[in-house]
Amino acid sequence: MERTEPAQAGAQGPAPEAEIDERGWALVDGQVIPLAEASVSVAAHGLNYGTGCFEGIRGYWQEQHQELYVLRLLEHYERFARSAALLRIELPADPEQMARSTCDLLKGQNVRQDVYIRPLALKVSRSIKVGLRPLRPLVAVYTTPLGDYLPLDGLAVQVSSWRRIPDNAIPSRAKTTGSYVNASLALDQAKSDGYDDAILLDQGGHVAEASAANLFIVRSGTLITPPVTADILEGITRQMMLELADQFAIPCLEREVDRTELYMADELFLTGTGVQVAPVTSVDRRPVADGQVGPITRRLQEQFFKAVRGLDPTRLGWLTPIYDQAHTST
Ligand SMILES: Cc1ncc(COP(=O)(O)O)c(C=O)c1O
Repeated sequence: MERTEPAQAGAQGPAPEAEIDERGWALVDGQVIPLAEASVSVAAHGLNYGTGCFEGIRGYWQEQHQELYVLRLLEHYERFARSAALLRIELPADPEQMARSTCDLLKGQNVRQDVYIRPLALKVSRSIKVGLRPLRPLVAVYTTPLGDYLPLDGLAVQVSSWRRIPDNAIPSRAKTTGSYVNASLALDQAKSDGYDDAILLDQGGHVAEASAANLFIVRSGTLITPPVTADILEGITRQMMLELADQFAIPCLEREVDRTELYMADELFLTGTGVQVAPVTSVDRRPVADGQVGPITRRLQEQFFKAVRGLDPTRLGWLTPIYDQAHTST
């Protein structure tokens, strides 16, 4: 039976620009240590050359259930393992073990608010030589409270003049630290020009994704998103949208998206762990349709927030409850 409580929209907590409070704990190479002591040498290879990878995972606090639900925990660690393998980083634990120690870290800190979890694997050998091996990694996980990464009621975005890095340069499907220079350049330009975020085109001029989010448009009732071969991160939230759309019988296409389709779309929204589900209401100062959040976007956004807060009994499989209390719908 479906619960009737309204979904709490968005995450509660500090803005993403806020300096992370160092009073927490971090898991570093299997040991829980104060976050303030979890540091690396300025000579660390990964710091100098961007040879690291990371994940971003959210946990949502559910007051009625007194439960912290971590969203797609295992899927994030599976992607982490794939990113690490590309960089020839041998992780000390498999995704299931990493997921378990993350649960212990959250439980140990008695986290009872919305939280962001950051696993990081970085080459920390103090070495000048460019390359991938032999270099020692450090594997860390830390957590911090985090509110919405972007506003959820209508974003103004810019099509960036920066292009998305191609798969044959720095593969976007691996979440490598160094590749975020590309996203940062695009976001910096967008912010300087008065926009909330940037949309990057690939080398061929097709739409890839936003600075830290995947992208969907709606045209004549069909949900369309660039394919995984469009130099995008293979987003876990993107996948959840495709599953929700399937549940609602909304037709979906994964295909190349032209820039002008952004201007002609009926609806447009971004998805990501940080971004969650964020409607876009203008592109390059052109309103998307009538400039209001569209009905399909609204429906998917509402269902997403219901699911992540443990209020959709059909989606409990997306969630890892940290305190493991009775959380099924009654
Ligand atoms: C570049 C980029 N694309 C897409 C996403 C969305 O991926 P996910 O939904 O797995 O968080 C992110 C991260 O959140 C990202 O940094």
